[in-house]
Amino acid sequence: MTAVRVSPAWLALREPADAAARAPDLVTELCLPARRPVVVHDLACGTGSMMRWLAPRLPGPQHWVCYDLDAELLTAAAKDDGHRAADGSPVTVSVRHRDVTRLPPGDCAGATLITASAVLDLLTVDDLARLVATCVAAGCPVLLTLSVTGRVELWPPHPLDGVIGAAFNAHQRRITKGRRLLGPDAARAAVHAFRSAGFDVATRATPWLLGSESAALAATWFAGWLGAASEQRPELTMNAGGYGSWRLGNAADGRLRVRVGHLDLLARPMAAGAAP
Ligand SMILES: C[S@@+](CC[C@H](N)C(=O)[O-])C[C@H]1O[C@@H](n2cnc3c(N)ncnc32)[C@H](O)[C@@H]1O
Repeated sequence: MTAVRVSPAWLALREPADAAARAPDLVTELCLPARRPVVVHDLACGTGSMMRWLAPRLPGPQHWVCYDLDAELLTAAAKDDGHRAADGSPVTVSVRHRDVTRLPPGDCAGATLITASAVLDLLTVDDLARLVATCVAAGCPVLLTLSVTGRVELWPPHPLDGVIGAAFNAHQRRITKGRRLLGPDAARAAVHAFRSAGFDVATRATPWLLGSESAALAATWFAGWLGAASEQRPELTMNAGGYGSWRLGNAADGRLRVRVGHLDLLARPMAAGAAP
């Protein structure tokens, strides 16, 4: 499988908003075993944003095993060694160049925790089923953050917002190489898959709330949102031209505000003997 290329610049631009959005209370519910070091497998890690957010929130020495299909992003993640745990313990990193939807059996064996962030929407139903099966086989808690929900609100409002949002969501659900992507349906599908596997699942709404303090991210996100919608429905391009420049003008003036819906999910194996 060839992943859609995600640029390091885009990941760097979104990292502060991602960090502000993820649900820290799910981290306090992790209940990790006392075994040390804590071994975290980060699936589709990009440059390591999840590690930079989560490692300082977990106590004790940690080893992060970071997976991605993109060798350039993995190289950046591998260099990002030297973080510290909540109690100052060392955090080490190793990387694996892999498709996380086709991990060999046992690849995540021994994990204390499996994480992933901002990736589920890129998967198909079958990809997600295989990824969940990998996690279930590892038998540890799984923290999947920032899965898009498809709910977007913009201020000031405009009559075209809904049409563009629907076209963007249809683009996210597009068929590529004969396989339909889950897009905004991925988070709910993951909740269902983990519950069906007997895991206890907690969720949190974790939207991006972008305003004048994150105008560059809001403008870049908006351009990508509009571009994907126009690719999906080329006939929108004519109407959307003025709309796009108006919104980008709002962003430049610090008047654009955006709420982009996400869901965080914590799935934990039920304790042996616990009621389902
Ligand atoms: C939006 S980025 C998120 C990266 C990182 N988790 C973060 O929060 O910054 C999606 C990442 O998923 C990776 N990816 C997509 N499909 C993948 C797959 N099947 N196997 C491994 N990595 C994949 C991409 O290369 C990219 O790094």
